[in-house]
Amino acid sequence: MEQQLQQLKQACLDAISKAEDLHQLEEIEIKYIGRKGELTNILRGVKDLNDIEKPVIGKLSNEIKLHLEAEFKKHKSALENKEISKSLHDDTFDTTAPGPDIEVGHIHILSQLQKEVESIFASMGFSVMDGPEVESEYYCFEGLNIPSWHLARDMQDTFFIKNKQDKKHGKMVLRTQTSPVQVRTMEKFGAPLRVIVPGRTFRYEATDATHESTFHQVEGFMVDKDISIANLKGVLKEFLTRLFGKEVSVRFRPGYFPFVEPGLEVDFSCLLCGGKGCRVCKHTGWVEFMGAGMIHQNVLKAGGIDSKKWQGWAFGFGLERLAMMRHGIDDIRLFLGGDLRFINQF
Ligand code: DAH
Repeated sequence: MEQQLQQLKQACLDAISKAEDLHQLEEIEIKYIGRKGELTNILRGVKDLNDIEKPVIGKLSNEIKLHLEAEFKKHKSALENKEISKSLHDDTFDTTAPGPDIEVGHIHILSQLQKEVESIFASMGFSVMDGPEVESEYYCFEGLNIPSWHLARDMQDTFFIKNKQDKKHGKMVLRTQTSPVQVRTMEKFGAPLRVIVPGRTFRYEATDATHESTFHQVEGFMVDKDISIANLKGVLKEFLTRLFGKEVSVRFRPGYFPFVEPGLEVDFSCLLCGGKGCRVCKHTGWVEFMGAGMIHQNVLKAGGIDSKKWQGWAFGFGLERLAMMRHGIDDIRLFLGGDLRFINQF
């Protein structure tokens, strides 16, 4: 029995040394020490041997098994290394082949549009300003001629910030509009001014296809001597014509915004039907676009500007709305929804 074991060990070692690849090695392993392998069979028979043979043969077979297992392991890693180095030196490995494509991201539709808007206004002499998104209630409302008791507060559902107070101005909110930057800019730079303020704004909205709690606005204003609503109309017409790449007409209707007097609703001629009337413009030939007006004296005053010497106009529009009209997008929630099928279209 002892001899039989030694022969088996030798046969197995010979086979291992001749194995040329991992597949062959695995077959040898199964043949000798697998569950139904030759050595395993012998080990199974040990229990039937007599008391003298049992410990001797048992010990020997175990030793052989451990030895063979170690040999298999050694050869397995040698063969693995051989296969790796073979594949590296293989003739079919083309070191000049281009690597896999790396996906490159791109600028979000809203940022693209914002840059376009900025560059058109910059070319007309406007500066681009920024302001805080967590804003004091003062700049967001009081400074814009909306005292706390005023009904106009109801026009904008506001997120209030708990446990945060501005030293000078008290309660804080998430800004509901980019208009607060009007007063901040007047305080800082005085008149004259030509400024646009693109930025993120927030409202406590129940969201639907046309309402979102986080969105973007562009505020624009000009403060100078002897300027009027005619300048506003000229600037807006020029802006829209350049943005859409074709002649656009602008129409004013009366509107109410506390920070302007008189206040205006601004429409532009429908781009789709050219003013004839279609589904997009609800058969009116005009598309509602933004609010505007002559800056209220109280706002100039809050900004430290003498309203007897200077006048100003201001406007504000939603960037999402502009993108929706331009590209025929029918749900505002898509912009920040993170769905790449949408984002990758632009
Ligand atoms: N801030 C206004 C809003 O969010 C938009 C607006 C209207 C801005 C009229 C203006 C303006 O500067 O004159 O509804």
